[in-house]
Amino acid sequence: MSKDRIVLAYSGGLDTSVAIGWIAEESGSEVIAVAADVGQGGEDLEVIRQRALDCGAVEAVVADVRDEYADEYCLPALQANALYMGRYPLVSALSRPLIVKHLVAAARAHGASTVSHGCTGKGNDQVRFEVGIGALAPDLRVIAPVRDSGMTRDKAIAFADEKGLPIDVNKKSPYSIDQNVWGRAVETGFLEDPWNGPIEDVYSYTCDPSVARAPDEIVLTFSDGLPTAIDGRNVTMLQAIEELNRRAGAQGIGRLDMVEDRLVGIKSREVYEVPGAHVLLTAHQEMENLTVERDLARYKRGAEQRWAELVYDGLWFSPLKRALDELIRSSQRHVSGEIRMVLSGGTATVTGRRGEASLYDFSLATYDAQDTFDQSLAKGFIELWGMPSKIAARRDLRLGGGPSGT
Ligand code: ARG
Repeated sequence: MSKDRIVLAYSGGLDTSVAIGWIAEESGSEVIAVAADVGQGGEDLEVIRQRALDCGAVEAVVADVRDEYADEYCLPALQANALYMGRYPLVSALSRPLIVKHLVAAARAHGASTVSHGCTGKGNDQVRFEVGIGALAPDLRVIAPVRDSGMTRDKAIAFADEKGLPIDVNKKSPYSIDQNVWGRAVETGFLEDPWNGPIEDVYSYTCDPSVARAPDEIVLTFSDGLPTAIDGRNVTMLQAIEELNRRAGAQGIGRLDMVEDRLVGIKSREVYEVPGAHVLLTAHQEMENLTVERDLARYKRGAEQRWAELVYDGLWFSPLKRALDELIRSSQRHVSGEIRMVLSGGTATVTGRRGEASLYDFSLATYDAQDTFDQSLAKGFIELWGMPSKIAARRDLRLGGGPSGT
């Protein structure tokens, strides 16, 4: 009988490299390593593939999924103006469902019964992997060697030494870093004391915003909620994020330092760099301010917050998330036009907005002679608008228990 097969989410780093041999030894199964390029930069995919094989994988699948990530994960997040706790653009939370999709596809293609990840038991990513896999392939089993079979850092290093694995154990950064084209997350080390300020050494996508540089003016074009051009040059979603990462990163834009509520109930200190995402989100919100009708805009704000929480909480493939996607998608009709911004000194400032789909009506808004707004209508409008409150106030005066306890 042929051996059972396990698909492993592989990063190329120490932990998942050791996990290949660790899982194989513990389970007697064959391990297939799967690595995805979501724009994290660093090593060549072919180098990562070879390392997986050298560490004992029977197969290594590597995929450049950068465009898929930009178009199908970052774009919906942009259209949802998605910010967890009003600040964090979901960098890691967005990439996990895409990785899950490729893990499940590899499990199917190679006849594996089990999927494995290298997450600890304290973070959100274990939840995102396992809930995601369960939603796409409820028949697959999941194992987590770092969390469930004692693969600690020290044991991983000892294992790598003992087996002579081709990994440099000294290259390990003092931080836990996860990065992709949408941004970069940095945790642990001295950052675990939330009173310790981040030092420059923590950052890599952004320059120090206090170092003066000439401001960079930029014009972003949107078509139905999709960024289509920068300064008049057509771009794909991936190119838009990459160019803005460069230009906003050079101005020190998109640094975040926050205490975050993890799904597992722990408060953790997180430092993020999201230069391109920050500029795109700021511009997209302003494009919506100009083009989305008031009630839809107000309703959407509530839906956006829920969408961000669902994605943060690992429920990308859930029915509610899918239903909210429909609402958000349909809201993007007419989110078209141009946004002008100045990038400088760590800040992205909108300085202009225009477009054919604009709902801004100069003749209604103006206070000068071209005014077409009939101000006499406001009097009756206010009378009717305030009528229910007035009736309730009269009742309260009569019976007591009004708003100020009168
Ligand atoms: N706290 C963030 C999140 O849950 C980032 C996690 C990043 N993972 C890491 N290994 N640093 O989405």
